[in-house]
Amino acid sequence: MSKQVQIVVFGKLPEDLMARLAEVGAVSSLDKKEGLVEADIIAAACAADIILTEPYVQITPAVLAACPNLRMIAQRAVGYDNINLDDCLHRPILVTNTPGVLDNATADLAFALLLTAGRRIVEADKYVRDGHWRGFENDLLLGCELAGRTIGIVGMGRIGSAMARRARGFSMDIVYCRAADVKDDANDETIAASAGVDEKDRKWKQELGARRVSLKTLLQHSDFISLHCPHNKDTEKLIGAPQFALMKKNCIFVNTARGKVVDEDALCRALEKGQIRGAGLDVFYNEPVVSETLLKASNVVLAPHIGSASEETRYAMAALAVNSVLKALAGTLPDNALNKDVFDQWRKNQPEIDKTRQGAVQS
Ligand code: GLV
Repeated sequence: MSKQVQIVVFGKLPEDLMARLAEVGAVSSLDKKEGLVEADIIAAACAADIILTEPYVQITPAVLAACPNLRMIAQRAVGYDNINLDDCLHRPILVTNTPGVLDNATADLAFALLLTAGRRIVEADKYVRDGHWRGFENDLLLGCELAGRTIGIVGMGRIGSAMARRARGFSMDIVYCRAADVKDDANDETIAASAGVDEKDRKWKQELGARRVSLKTLLQHSDFISLHCPHNKDTEKLIGAPQFALMKKNCIFVNTARGKVVDEDALCRALEKGQIRGAGLDVFYNEPVVSETLLKASNVVLAPHIGSASEETRYAMAALAVNSVLKALAGTLPDNALNKDVFDQWRKNQPEIDKTRQGAVQS
């Protein structure tokens, strides 16, 4: 007997996209962020065939065990460190994310944080609002310029290279290290040899004058450092006390990747000791909790994980996630599947589902 596909949406989806999902299954949603615990996730998803998730929805082994029908997770984000792909192999569960549609929005925000911290715009805004401004002063709120300075980009994927293009527009010198270099702890000679033959490295050199270097060299020579690597076991606390100690005293540190790539206590100590000049942060180790030191520091610009939060990008992410679900249900492998290898087995394992019955949207 065929059954109706049960689809659970975490967070909010635009109405037209909810309606598209409702054409293929029964859709319910849970839009709770504050205080969301494993039991809430299980209660919402225990009967689900498919869930649409966001980075704050932790898909633990207990969640998977409590959701025996779960066949697909469509993550509305490019980062997916809330989902362990190995745990999804057995059933298997198809996992998709939303790469490609949020590169410009995220690079825009990273660059905005860099400029805001560099030119002390939040301090300046507060200065005016607090009524301190008495007229033009030659040495008031002096910041640092970008032209001719070096930016170090950690992770030169889609978002990292979008950041590099922005930096080039501001006449900055660009160095970067690639995820593989971080993992292998490669040195500059090995990296230069491989950059000489790698097509992408050659293109970035030609188009942006960008130079691939080791993480150590990047940390030592950059005036601005921006993180664009995923959070995984190789990058957990990648930037900690030893790495901050290598940075220049005038360095401005920007993170729009994931909070867990940075040892936040070490960042606080580096700021307190004046080891770096300032920071622009969109992500935090224990989101939404932010360290007291960061909350108090006037040389730190804070944002609440809004890297991809433009109207058009958030719609595009939601549409990509919904299209991935529709495509998979139609028997086609979505291009953005993170575990493409499981697809043949996944397709064979599909229960007989009634995709023609219109489902009701409930929340
Ligand atoms: C947002 O944090 C994302 O990973 O897309």
